[in-house]
Amino acid sequence: MRALPVFQAPKTFLSACVMLVSLTATAGVWDEGDIEAGQALFNANCASCHKVTNEVLAAPGLAGIADRWGASEELLVKWIQNPQGAAESGDGYIKSLVDRYVPTYGWMTAQAVSGEDIKNIMAYVQNPPDVVPVAESGSDCVTVDELPIEEASNDSGVWFVLLLVMFLIIAMAAAGVNRSLTNASREREGEELLGDLPYSERVKAWMWENRVAVSLVGVFFVAYGAVLGYQGLMRVGVVEGYKPNQPIKFIHSVHVCENEVDCKYCHHSAYESKHAGIPSTNVCMNCHKAVKKGRRYGETEIAKIYDAIGFDPESGTYVDGDGNNGYTSPQDTYNGEPIRWNKVHNLPDHVYFSHQQHVVVGGLQCQNCHGDVETYTVGRVANVDDINLLVDKYPGLIELSKPTLTMGWCIECHNKAEIDLASSGYYEDIHARLKDHLRGNEELRKYMEDDKITVKELGGWECAKCHY
Ligand code: HEC
Ligand code: HEC
Ligand code: HEC
Ligand code: HEC
Ligand code: HEC
Ligand code: HEC
Repeated sequence: MRALPVFQAPKTFLSACVMLVSLTATAGVWDEGDIEAGQALFNANCASCHKVTNEVLAAPGLAGIADRWGASEELLVKWIQNPQGAAESGDGYIKSLVDRYVPTYGWMTAQAVSGEDIKNIMAYVQNPPDVVPVAESGSDCVTVDELPIEEASNDSGVWFVLLLVMFLIIAMAAAGVNRSLTNASREREGEELLGDLPYSERVKAWMWENRVAVSLVGVFFVAYGAVLGYQGLMRVGVVEGYKPNQPIKFIHSVHVCENEVDCKYCHHSAYESKHAGIPSTNVCMNCHKAVKKGRRYGETEIAKIYDAIGFDPESGTYVDGDGNNGYTSPQDTYNGEPIRWNKVHNLPDHVYFSHQQHVVVGGLQCQNCHGDVETYTVGRVANVDDINLLVDKYPGLIELSKPTLTMGWCIECHNKAEIDLASSGYYEDIHARLKDHLRGNEELRKYMEDDKITVKELGGWECAKCHY
């Protein structure tokens, strides 16, 4: 609040004056604004393109904005309300801004915010209370230019078998040629020709001649087959490393690491429900209305988003649902259908799994089950050994040994994960009541005495908790 005039005046008269002042003096951008109101305005109008740090999202970050615009308060207000109009003023700074960003991101859209709103927004931008300092790990991203191009899973086993069959055919043909040549040379030297035995007899004879080598090779193959068979059986139902092709080559690392978009921005239902869900096309459009080109795939992949939602990047407008209004989408396949992402993780129907229970109540990090998603190019089921390597990067990860998504994996973690009793009055209460209840049953009581409660002890090993 500003200092009140020294004389006493009726309250209504005073507030009328204050309103008048704020209506006329809109250019006082750096005056003390309301941070909370500014935050709400910023989130509603600006957050889809701007960050309050100096990170570039779909537009320059707004940190240090006062240093850049300091004296030209009026121009700043004008810029936000009508960027192209402000550019006509010929101001040098605005010209450099336009030269630098418009070719990539297009013009900033005119914002329907008042001078008072802008004052509040600038108050928030300069003192954002909810911005956590960038974590160490965020700074050393591998940029998309350096990331290897990963392929989705394909079955290399088939190629191995095909190669083996080809090798056998060549070997047989070579044996046939060898035999003809031997006969030819014997005939020339007047020796006896090789008998015209059936092929199987010849193979038998050859094997008998080389019986030591043949039995060694045989033993090797039997042992090798047994090991492979055992490993194969142990991998039945294990889906680690599965990474199907996706309709759009979405790259997690570009979004999560380089542009620091939180998992929550796209998978917010992980914090509210059983499912983490895949973001709808609208969510992509919050940024891709402006970001029309990627560094790896250029316009092709992002154009597929426009196809799915019916957006004309040239004019920046949406088209009607039926696509019959003469608009040809970039790939000419627009039919108003959502993007059909392929499911990567898929537990059997008889298993109950809730994200909220693990992420919110259990306080687990996504990486504990999904690995280092911020380095992924193709979405995949994480490998448990890869997750274990992340303990330094993400302190607090629980190390496990069973393959992810198997029952053994769930069970192992429930045996290891400890519950923080102090986190909830509910747990503390139950713990105290159980301790009391178990008086006399020393066997069970000793579980309660160590003050270490695992998920298992709370019932995390009961079949019905996980199975319908
Ligand atoms: C649709 C995306 C978009 C939205 C929404 C948006 N901006 Fe911008 N803004 C841009 C772009 C892009 C630029 C860079 C200049 C250009 O290309 O036009 C920019 C530039 C700016 C600049 C100059 C930055 C600098 O470094 O000097 C300010 C200030 C700004 N915007 C404020 C705002 C405010 C405040 C809001 C919300 C009321 C807002 N913008 C909403 C896209 C957007
Ligand atoms: C910009 C939006 C966005 C952000 C941010 C994002 N994701 Fe995703 N995520 C997607 C999309 C789109 C897919 C589907 C394509 C794919 O599987 O790669 C996906 C897929 C996934 C999958 C596989 C889903 C399945 O089908 O089983 C997991 C797991 C996942 N994300 C975890 C994360 C985690 C953890 C973070 C934060 C570190 C994160 N995501 C951040 C958009 C996002
Ligand atoms: C919070 C903003 C934001 C959201 C939400 C977002 N993206 Fe992006 N996306 C970006 C930025 C920034 C880039 C990087 C552009 C560049 O390469 O400089 C990008 C790049 C891309 C690329 C191009 C990769 C390349 O290098 O060619 C694709 C494809 C893409 N995004 C798909 C999606 C999809 C699909 C969604 C919705 C599930 C989505 N994005 C949501 C900001 C976002
Ligand atoms: C305790 C392990 C665990 C944690 C922690 C976890 N997930 Fe999952 N996630 C799973 C399992 C298991 C599935 C498969 C669920 C199914 O098929 O029903 C899954 C599936 C997904 C999917 C695919 C869509 C869906 O809902 O099935 C996405 C996306 C995802 N997780 C994102 C996240 C994000 C983001 C976080 C962190 C906020 C997270 N997960 C934390 C185990 C976990
Ligand atoms: C990385 C460790 C971890 C993994 C892996 C894990 N969980 Fe959990 N789970 C927890 C924790 C921690 C809790 C306890 C949350 C709380 O109540 O404090 C929990 C709780 C549960 C509960 C509620 C138990 C109760 O007593 O109410 C169910 C059901 C559950 N998990 C199912 C699963 C299933 C199914 C899987 C495998 C697909 C799985 N979990 C994998 C750590 C894990
Ligand atoms: C912490 C969660 C959890 C608990 C507790 C649990 N299971 Fe499971 N169970 C799973 C998961 C996850 C799968 C799926 C594994 C897979 O697809 O490879 C599974 C699979 C199974 C299968 C195999 C079905 C198939 O599709 O191959 C049987 C049988 C089974 N569970 C029985 C039980 C019994 C009996 C108990 C109690 C002693 C129990 N489970 C307790 C999570 C659990």
